[in-house]
Amino acid sequence: MAAGFQTIDQILHADGVALARIADTCGTPCYVYSSSQLDQNVEGLKSAMRRALPASDQPLIAFACKANSNLGILHHMAGLGLGADVVSGGEMIRAQAAGIDPARIIFSGVGKTDEDIEQALRAHIAQINIESAPELERVTAIAQHIGITARIAFRLNPDVDAQTHAKITTGKEDNKFGLAAQDIAPLYRHAVQRRFVDVLGLSVHIGSQLTSLEPFREAFSKTAAFARQLVADGLPLRSLDLGGGLGIVYDREQAPCLDGYASLIRELILPLGVKIILEPGRLLVGNAGLLLTRVTYIKKTSTRQYLVLDAGMNDLVRPALYDAWHEIRPVVDNATNNELYDVVGPVCETGDTFARDRALPPLQAGTLLAIMNAGAYGFSMSSRYNARPLPAEVMTRNGHFRVIRQRENVRDILKEETIPAW
Ligand code: LLP
Repeated sequence: MAAGFQTIDQILHADGVALARIADTCGTPCYVYSSSQLDQNVEGLKSAMRRALPASDQPLIAFACKANSNLGILHHMAGLGLGADVVSGGEMIRAQAAGIDPARIIFSGVGKTDEDIEQALRAHIAQINIESAPELERVTAIAQHIGITARIAFRLNPDVDAQTHAKITTGKEDNKFGLAAQDIAPLYRHAVQRRFVDVLGLSVHIGSQLTSLEPFREAFSKTAAFARQLVADGLPLRSLDLGGGLGIVYDREQAPCLDGYASLIRELILPLGVKIILEPGRLLVGNAGLLLTRVTYIKKTSTRQYLVLDAGMNDLVRPALYDAWHEIRPVVDNATNNELYDVVGPVCETGDTFARDRALPPLQAGTLLAIMNAGAYGFSMSSRYNARPLPAEVMTRNGHFRVIRQRENVRDILKEETIPAW
């Protein structure tokens, strides 16, 4: 278990706060984030980079906001000196509202709208990553129209298999992301000659939850080789954005070694003498969050035993969407795991299943459980499916907790809708 969460007298705590106290005050389901664990995760990455790279070449760490874009979390990241990788106008506004310096904001994604682009230019963000020829045209046209220079990088699709879940693989030739090197070369040459366009370099991101360093090696080698070719052709190259993707331990998988990752950067990227950008998401927040939930019913059939929780796939969709495995722990853990339960939510789909045949102690209705490693792509992917209000979010620090998002109230949501008076 991550150090931000502790078992004290058999009771699960977050930064010294008993989870039952949070459940009593805020209700369930509720996301709980340990700020000390965030600190530790960020420091873990920074120190690996410090060990591998000279002080003058430390990377810009742009936290991938899609993993968790709560203002409290983003503000905490800003305080740790991080920038942000955003993929929508909404995330850009969140990052800025949280105090992240636009000079440290990178804008990625295949479908930026005109509004997104203009907003990014007016905010003078660090870099827009270009994913297609028509997008380059659009960015160039808007930049010239409003007279603000667009700092851009081209996203390379290196055709590398990230060896992760198909739905989160982004660097294969047949994925919608980025451009092949041979398609970037003429666009790059053309873009450097355009007014109001400043071409900074390349970006690459091959997928998420990578557990092996080999795909990174392959992607970084290909990126470096292409970068060298551009420089040899007399083109400017000042930055390389290496994306995110570092995996964490959910079950028994091996997490990639950060020193090994940093060494790859030293070996393959440092010699190019460019600014290095990283876009980690999951690595920084994944193990710092849990979803606190209560058992509503124990339901027994002739073949199975179900734990029906008050959290559902609308609160945490990863198991339903990717068959993702999340550890589930009783908040009070004082018995052996000698029962097998199917752990399900209340949503009306069989996919609303967190775990099948999970070994847990004998439990009762009302018991509090924690679904672990839910800090990344947990709340940020939640929905109101089945008219379920979005859960609360809480942050802990040194024995204290603060609500960083109120639980939604269905009545407030109804106010956003209108019955047409035909
Ligand atoms: N940069 C870009 C351009 C990305 O598309 C992503 C994630 C990241 C950085 C951050 O990747 P990370 O370091 O978190 O692996 N919802 C899925 C994960 C989707 C990842 C999408 N892109 C999940 O729950 O597993």
